[in-house]
Amino acid sequence: MNPLNHVAIIMDGNGRWGLKNKNARNAGHKAGLNTVEKIIKVTIKNNIKFLTLYAFSTENWKRPKKEIKFLFNLLEDFLINKIEDLNKQKIKLKIIGKKNFSSKLNSLLKESEKKTIKNKRLQINLALNYGSKVELIDAFKEIKKNKEIINEKNLSKYLQTKNIPDPDLLIRTGNTKRLSNFLLWQLAYSEIFFEKKLWPDFSEKDYNKIINKYKNIKRNFGNI
Ligand code: FPP
Repeated sequence: MNPLNHVAIIMDGNGRWGLKNKNARNAGHKAGLNTVEKIIKVTIKNNIKFLTLYAFSTENWKRPKKEIKFLFNLLEDFLINKIEDLNKQKIKLKIIGKKNFSSKLNSLLKESEKKTIKNKRLQINLALNYGSKVELIDAFKEIKKNKEIINEKNLSKYLQTKNIPDPDLLIRTGNTKRLSNFLLWQLAYSEIFFEKKLWPDFSEKDYNKIINKYKNIKRNFGNI
């Protein structure tokens, strides 16, 4: 059975769920947040140590201002109401991506990271304003600036995911098969599962089913 240390998730399908069920995309984001809370619990139950969630990409800025505002308000409320609870559960929150939001959200994110920094039960990496291409370009720039040689070790240390092991498993919900500029370097040897259900409909049972399938895969890492 494969060990499972790190799960990464592209939480796709909120907008479609919202339109279908409540005639409003944003209702899907709200429902999606309930799934986030549920999936955190199941991740802990499975004793998985890292969970990386793609919440907002560098490309998502193209969306209507109203939707972006709704998403960030949702995140603000979540942090204000839930960070104590996450801390009590010994969850560490880490933001990957550039924190260039409103000063209120930037400080909330920084405070939340600081408050939970010592926690060891589960590390949640929340990808916000994250894009893999920008991350890689920035890392190469750092190598050049510091006149270092280009190798895996040096590159990895300048990535947003420094000190985080690569994901073992990537799940994308929402019936779409693409990576959307997410962890392109880090997913080099991850097992990938595309799930038909929209993120708000993704259940504990669906998650456990994927975990069990993953555990029984023969992972070769290029060997035979
Ligand atoms: C993708 O679905 C989802 C997002 C861009 C946002 C993810 C946000 C959440 C799950 C809720 C908020 C989370 C936190 C941590 C506050 P989409 O909108 O692209 O769906 P579509 O493909 O149906 O349009």
